Amino acid sequence: MEQRLKKAFEYLHEKIGSFRPEILIIPGSGWECFIECIENPLTVEYADLPDFPQATFHKGCFTFGEVSGVRIVTAGRLHYYEGIPVEETVMPLRVIRMLGVRKVLLTNASGGINPVFTPGSFMVVQDHISWGVPSPLRGRNLDFLGPRFPDMSQVYSLRLQEAIYRAAEKCGIELNSGIYIQTEGPQFETPAEISLMSDLGADAVGMSTVPEAVAACHCGMETAAVSCISNAAAGISETPLSVEDITAAAQKAAPLMKALLQECIVEFSQLQEQ
Ligand code: HPA
Repeated sequence: MEQRLKKAFEYLHEKIGSFRPEILIIPGSGWECFIECIENPLTVEYADLPDFPQATFHKGCFTFGEVSGVRIVTAGRLHYYEGIPVEETVMPLRVIRMLGVRKVLLTNASGGINPVFTPGSFMVVQDHISWGVPSPLRGRNLDFLGPRFPDMSQVYSLRLQEAIYRAAEKCGIELNSGIYIQTEGPQFETPAEISLMSDLGADAVGMSTVPEAVAACHCGMETAAVSCISNAAAGISETPLSVEDITAAAQKAAPLMKALLQECIVEFSQLQEQ
């Protein structure tokens, strides 16, 4: 893995020259519309990187560029349910960390477990629960990235959470905060599972984000995550879940997502690196 990451790093390093992004954004379902807001974009396809995993759901590429004068990069998400080993799903994040990026904003669409969360609303992730998804840190530790047994008592930076609230206020968006639970997927949950997840304290459920947050915490990135509640979770929803409905609901929120991310970037960039 170390060799694979170093080869990918060298390729990217050569492609982007002296461009140094400050913030990594991983766009989840519905959030990819944000890529249109990037000025002077430079796209690097995962398919062109040596020995790099390929995406089958989101667009498999990095996009380097500027938003509101801030240098950023987006990385297309890879999911465990795509059949990609979990440690490979975090390769995009790790290689961007190797380029010197210290802040990451993860986004996703999720099912609302908390009955207060209505479809189309947003949840800032305070903490997470992994539901049967293996750790991306399995296997030999990558000592050059971080420690064998990293602390996870504050995965999601408090000051970045506050920055997301400030950004949302500027856009007139109301936010909730809560606990995100990730399943392996790709099947949606049963009502009995949702009832159990509710008892565990989860507010929203999805199929992504946790491995990236764990890997980011391991390699010392300041991490934040925001979720768009695209539907009420199984059993809470009166209708069967479909990816088409979820994607359509997430796409309806697209203008708000774009505005929120643009303001988050401005707010994040104003915070001195820790
Ligand atoms: N369950 C799991 N993943 C999801 C959901 C859901 O209800 N909605 C969006 N992603």
